[in-house]
Amino acid sequence: MKIINTISELQRELQVERRHGHSIGFVPTMGALHNGHASLVTRSAHDNDVTVVSVFLNPTQFNDKRDLEKYPRTQEADCRLLSGLGTSIVFIPSVEEMYPEPDTRVFSYPPTDSVMEGAFRPGHFNGVCQIVSKLFDAVRPLRAYFGEKDFQQIAVIRRMVADLHYNIEIVPCPVVRESSGLALSSRNTLLTDHERDIAANIYRVLAASKAKVASSTVEQVRQSVIKEINGIEGLRVEYYSIVDGDTLADVHTWASAHHIVGCITVFCGKTPIRLIDHIKYF
Ligand code: PAF
Repeated sequence: MKIINTISELQRELQVERRHGHSIGFVPTMGALHNGHASLVTRSAHDNDVTVVSVFLNPTQFNDKRDLEKYPRTQEADCRLLSGLGTSIVFIPSVEEMYPEPDTRVFSYPPTDSVMEGAFRPGHFNGVCQIVSKLFDAVRPLRAYFGEKDFQQIAVIRRMVADLHYNIEIVPCPVVRESSGLALSSRNTLLTDHERDIAANIYRVLAASKAKVASSTVEQVRQSVIKEINGIEGLRVEYYSIVDGDTLADVHTWASAHHIVGCITVFCGKTPIRLIDHIKYF
């Protein structure tokens, strides 16, 4: 496994691979890797000759600078994990390497990037599109792997890929959960053991809400999820939206889309830590 810090060196390496006809899979990350990331890397290593993993804590996608400061940084452990997973290249650029000049590009893909995380974290998806487009330009992969935990992010990136005509297959990979049901997230390391136990209720409530679909309206299910989670000490719902899984527009009846998903953000604990999750109804 090679560790590369500059775009020019990365491109030199990948040019050789392309000349040999090797397919390139790409897994973008912000580090603090866990088994969810490991599943993406394993999938890419299975599908492609070469797997590039980027580890870059992208400042432009953090609308709250305290969130950026708190974000766990575990570079040595990340490299150890990646070397055992079939990673060919780890790309770890500096902020100056990725942003030699401030990035003034504006990406706008409503409603995918304007609702939910887009509404509560203004500028977040613009920052995601800025860095993912720069990384796509540097790596030029055949396939790129994203965790479905960030369900909305995948919808936004698909729009960006179509808009900018990237010839890249976006491969969504299933959420990896702890045995308690809690979705794996780099932010989970910021939770105490007690908060982790409490946080497991988020998915429990979401999963149980599927049983209510046959007898309740969309709004009744939405309200009952919010009420039940807010009733658990230590949890506070920021939003719960039930949306068309492709456009992310709100749905009002269960018949209005083929693919209906509930997306939630919950604050957990005293600090508090912001956790996201989702459930597929159809
Ligand atoms: O999902 C993430 O970890 C980040 O948003 C990504 C895609 C690596 C861009 O910084």
